[in-house]
Amino acid sequence: TSSAPSLWGIPLKYLSLVTLAVQNSLLTLIMHYSRVSTPPSRAYSPATAVLMNEILKGSISLVIAFLRVDTPTSGTLCNPSACSARIKRLAGDVFSPDCWKLSIPAILYVIQNNLQFVAVSNLQAATFQVSYQMKILTTAGFSVLLLRKKLTSLQWVALFFLAVGVGIVQIQAGEVRVIRDGVVQEDTHSMNAIKGFLAVAVACMTSGLAGVYFEMVLKNSQTDLWVRNVQLSLFSLLPALAPVFYLYVSDPQEGWVSTLFRNFGEWAWATVSVQVFGGLLTALVIKYSDNILKGFATSLSIVISFLASVALFDFRITFTFAIGCLIVLVATWLYNHQPTRSESISWALG
Ligand code: C5P
Repeated sequence: TSSAPSLWGIPLKYLSLVTLAVQNSLLTLIMHYSRVSTPPSRAYSPATAVLMNEILKGSISLVIAFLRVDTPTSGTLCNPSACSARIKRLAGDVFSPDCWKLSIPAILYVIQNNLQFVAVSNLQAATFQVSYQMKILTTAGFSVLLLRKKLTSLQWVALFFLAVGVGIVQIQAGEVRVIRDGVVQEDTHSMNAIKGFLAVAVACMTSGLAGVYFEMVLKNSQTDLWVRNVQLSLFSLLPALAPVFYLYVSDPQEGWVSTLFRNFGEWAWATVSVQVFGGLLTALVIKYSDNILKGFATSLSIVISFLASVALFDFRITFTFAIGCLIVLVATWLYNHQPTRSESISWALG
């Protein structure tokens, strides 16, 4: 509709979905490169990256929430009394009695964000991307359980094919070899596919539960999205700090700053930046669209990452991989396909 929020005339809903697809591909590629381009002894700490992600995302959300506060005396930001009224109002919103609700998705997202590093370090970029599509399955399951959402028979069929497609991609994952200068190479970084797939499986569970839970909290109250984001980041700090603290106490020779930021080069910062951007976008997509359309955007990102992997990492397309990808894409399309009235009537009549 014309009243829907838009930027440069493009509805925010579509803009955020397309941007999320590009962001997803970029993140997989940059994160994968940042992890496998150096030997494990010179790798940066994922725990530090997850913590930086939460601090940056929380700070950006706090600034936006501050600018959006609506107070009776709101006016120029330079006015000290208007400014302090804003701060008081914002603090009241952030520490509202229901803020504890965000602790659940916060813990789940921290676990997911850590597992994503394990997965991406142990699987090929494109394999990771396709397997991560299992999120659609878990998101559907939790939507039915928590949001009492009804799925059509066609959507259940699509979910079944999604699982089949992901399975096919997994079967051939062991056969994939990196080809460089026409020679089959052993990976510079030793990958453990089973560890990678286990990490993806658990990350898909936390993604589904956290996404649906966040949607439930967001859509069941009037609280501003950016205030919810600040609450999410605040509750993420403790679980994100725990592994960082462990990292420091297990190797306390140097100062804590040098321990945490050891090997934290430009690729690590690039990974964190794309992740921060993605976190903010995800929140926008959940608000202006929903988790189903989010799944569609990420399936588009498979194609982008897949083509980029071929170009950048000499990833060889095997026939099985292509079939698996195709099934995942068709299943995703089917899941998001809203039958017209006549289609659904003929489907119901068999
Ligand atoms: O893959 P999925 O969509 O589950 O990933 C969600 C990502 O977005 C996580 O990294 C999570 O930390 C982030 N997120 C966020 N703020 C929200 C919702 C999700 O930063 N409100």
